[in-house]
Amino acid sequence: MSPDPAIPQEPDLRAIDGWTIHEFAEVTSTNSLAAHLPPWTAVRAVVQTAGRGRTGRHWLSDEEGLWLSAVVPTPGDIAPWSLLPLAAGWAVLSVVRALGLPDARLRWPNDILIGRRKLAGILVDRFSAGAAVVGIGLNVANHPEKTDPELAGEVICLADLLPVTPPFRALIVRLLDALTREHHRLETGDVSGLCRDLNGAWRYRQVQVTLAGGRGAVNGYLDSVDPAGALLVRDAAGEMRVLPAPHVELLREVFPI
Ligand code: BTN
Repeated sequence: MSPDPAIPQEPDLRAIDGWTIHEFAEVTSTNSLAAHLPPWTAVRAVVQTAGRGRTGRHWLSDEEGLWLSAVVPTPGDIAPWSLLPLAAGWAVLSVVRALGLPDARLRWPNDILIGRRKLAGILVDRFSAGAAVVGIGLNVANHPEKTDPELAGEVICLADLLPVTPPFRALIVRLLDALTREHHRLETGDVSGLCRDLNGAWRYRQVQVTLAGGRGAVNGYLDSVDPAGALLVRDAAGEMRVLPAPHVELLREVFPI
């Protein structure tokens, strides 16, 4: 089968408008490395020895996965930037869908899934007030379940899904373009457009939410995210609960039997 003509083969990374890109064979974590870099810089590594996931989890980062961190400016008022993790999720989802995977979906806040299997995860770090590091881990042709058998059935990679695996550089170009677009949307205050896109991308809406700091749990129906980035969940008593992102430790989807 011939390659998707829409995917450039090995574009020159220097050609990505406005971005400076550094590539490494091995780092601890691209997010940690990017902490010291200026906005509009991106770091890609072939292997991460101490890749970091959300909520302090380890992120297996062997060869053949895409481990990319992009530094974006977050000037001024904090409010729109609190939506950056959600916006980054939409950016990555839109790239994955455009590769020919229209059924790719989001799990709050920003996991990218195919069915019930995770294809990509995002970790946003704010090491300083004026910038954020958006770390993207995309399973391309890697198989983390070979290293950690507990992940069997939980993960999937592009090579399992597409007739031709897109080259890394083409993916980097697309991801940075999409991130630039979503950053612009936040910068210009188009929060309602972002919420509309996001709220069409949650699939399994019956959820169990564990609240942070031992504040209990909310079981119910995921209605939407609001323009402040809070989760709106209708609980079993029919009350709409407004759950600001920092109050949520974990969201589990409840699948229909
Ligand atoms: C998650 O789903 O838990 C988030 C995973 C984020 C992994 C990426 S890989 C590139 C960047 N560097 C890291 O150490 N983590 C992120």
